[in-house]
Amino acid sequence: MNIIEIKQLNKYFGEGDNRTHILKEINLEIKKGDFIAIIGQSGSGKSTLMNIIGCLDSLNSGSYKISNTEVSQLNSDQLSELRQRKFGFIFQRYNLLSALSALENVALPAIYAGVDQQSRLQRAAQLLEKLGLKDKLQHKPNQLSGGQQQRVSIARALMNGGEIILADEPTGALDSKSGETVMEILQQLHAEGHTIILVTHDKKIADFANRVIEIKDGQIIQDQRKSAHIAAKSETIQPKKSRWRFYKDQFIESFKMSVNAIIAHKLRSLLTMLGIIIGITSVVSVVALGNGSQQKILENINSMGTNTMDIFNGTGFGDRRAERMQNLTVADSEILAKQSYIESATPNSSVSGNLTYRNQSFSAQVRGVGEQYFDVKGMKLKQGRLFSQDEVKQNAQVAVIDENSVKQVFNQQNPLGEIVMINKKPLKVIGVAAMNSMGPTTSSLSIYTPYTTAMNKISGNQKIDSITVKVNDEVNSSVAEKDLTQLLEVRHGKKDFFVMNTNTIKQTIESTTDTMKLLISSIALISLVVGGIGVMNIMLVSVTERTKEIGVRMAIGAKQSNILQQFLIEAVLICLIGGITGILLSMLLGEIFNLVTTNFTMVFSTTSVLAAVFCSTIIGVVFGYMPAKNAAGLNPINALSRE
Ligand SMILES: Nc1ncnc2c1ncn2[C@@H]1O[C@H](COP(=O)(O)OP(=O)(O)OP(=O)(O)O)[C@@H](O)[C@H]1O
Ligand SMILES: [Mg+2]
Repeated sequence: MNIIEIKQLNKYFGEGDNRTHILKEINLEIKKGDFIAIIGQSGSGKSTLMNIIGCLDSLNSGSYKISNTEVSQLNSDQLSELRQRKFGFIFQRYNLLSALSALENVALPAIYAGVDQQSRLQRAAQLLEKLGLKDKLQHKPNQLSGGQQQRVSIARALMNGGEIILADEPTGALDSKSGETVMEILQQLHAEGHTIILVTHDKKIADFANRVIEIKDGQIIQDQRKSAHIAAKSETIQPKKSRWRFYKDQFIESFKMSVNAIIAHKLRSLLTMLGIIIGITSVVSVVALGNGSQQKILENINSMGTNTMDIFNGTGFGDRRAERMQNLTVADSEILAKQSYIESATPNSSVSGNLTYRNQSFSAQVRGVGEQYFDVKGMKLKQGRLFSQDEVKQNAQVAVIDENSVKQVFNQQNPLGEIVMINKKPLKVIGVAAMNSMGPTTSSLSIYTPYTTAMNKISGNQKIDSITVKVNDEVNSSVAEKDLTQLLEVRHGKKDFFVMNTNTIKQTIESTTDTMKLLISSIALISLVVGGIGVMNIMLVSVTERTKEIGVRMAIGAKQSNILQQFLIEAVLICLIGGITGILLSMLLGEIFNLVTTNFTMVFSTTSVLAAVFCSTIIGVVFGYMPAKNAAGLNPINALSRE
């Protein structure tokens, strides 16, 4: 039975004027179980013919059938499968993968064939043992002699069965003793039923074969049969196919190769990762800083009292006429307080005054407020008591002072019960209010007194600066704001006041810090893109460096998708390691930042960390795809001939 049938095969190299006819009208039939030597001078086209037979190279015209399948009609995946199933390659220069041990090199073809790990390692060990390399299983190629490496490559050729063994000058790089050993092994394999095609320029080597074909200038000039071929008992490995294991093993293999490649070029990988590290560190840190400051600001706002609103005279902040306006009245406040959606409303009437105590004089802000003011504003009492509703009604001459005043006026002595003069009117100090975290950090003095006292006893006019309103918790604050605006508008006949709603401020601050975070993050994203381009660059270099390796993998049965996967994993791995390093780095920065500053802390959110990981993976995929695609698209024979 003919396993190989070649009819009128032509092969050209080059284009246009450089086009040369290398193989001319070749006709060749090879029987299963034959041992063929192709001889001829250098440049006669032996290797070219061999590469076409091995499905590594294509033909220009004619027909080539393996087991009655026309090869030129197969796509690249089918060709890979054919190489993997039918052929075992033995190269002049062994072409072992230097990062893998002898055992792993031998087992590699079985990974692409989808054999499970245990059986493939077992078979690889058996083959190596049979070839006298029992104690060299874990040796790397550079720890083996040439003859030993060639035996490893023979074992690799047999791994998937090696029905047809193609050997291009297998003894060319060996001393005569090792060369003889290799030839004896090939003879032995022939006896076991393998079909062997050998290329050599050495007549003595050709003597081992039982059919010698001589090529000259791309034509067969002699075909000499010395002995009958041996009817083959074919041995094809039929792997138990399991799709899941197939993908898993190939993934693990690609992963291992990627790790090896990264480790082999530590400094280069690190420098490549640097772009990603910087990018991720800045994005994660910026977001954490933003979160931290936002939290701090919101805390401060909350301490101003939740669900509170202040109503002021005028059309808005910065309205200069507001000082002189008297639009808001105590009656407004009283009406508001009666609304069902309002918990309390208190008028505020402030006046700046002159505070005298024991011959010392200070300027102070006298804040006339209602008794609920402290509660609504979330102010805490530090000492003494607050004034009561009765005291407000009775224009009681009492005052709650702030901590600044205790410090400056009373020199930290107990102020309770003391009398201070405000604009020559005496007020009795009954309490001390704790410093509001949002309150003025200046050293100005604030004196709180009932608004009735402030209006009737101190300033002497009925002017109200603002009304502080606390809305019921279950009421939506913007609905309440709309309602009370309407109410006051009707009362005043026009809108001569404005409302400051803490909830709205909160939302505004949230949205502005979110915008800031987004803005700065997008700037940091640019550095991620730059990092990604660095990764792409290195991957392109890596593909170029490992072209030979890609060729070897393809020759032993790797599909384009396997090669694509391997390089893609490498790119993603670089980015992912960079990304995780970036996250750890920014967390370290955060720790240091939190130790050094007391103002606010950096807050890391799971979302931003996950987004960073996701981001670096995507960068790996996006920027690794092109180089990986290049690698996968390589022509096996071009890749193999690269040094
Ligand atoms: N990729 C290529 N592009 C152009 N010409 C090529 C290419 N590969 C081989 N050739 C040419 O084809 C001819 C046959 O080359 P081939 O490698 O088949 O020779 P060979 O018989 O194997 O020689 P050797 O014994 O030296 O290995 C040579 O003249 C070579 O220059
Ligand atoms: Mg050659």
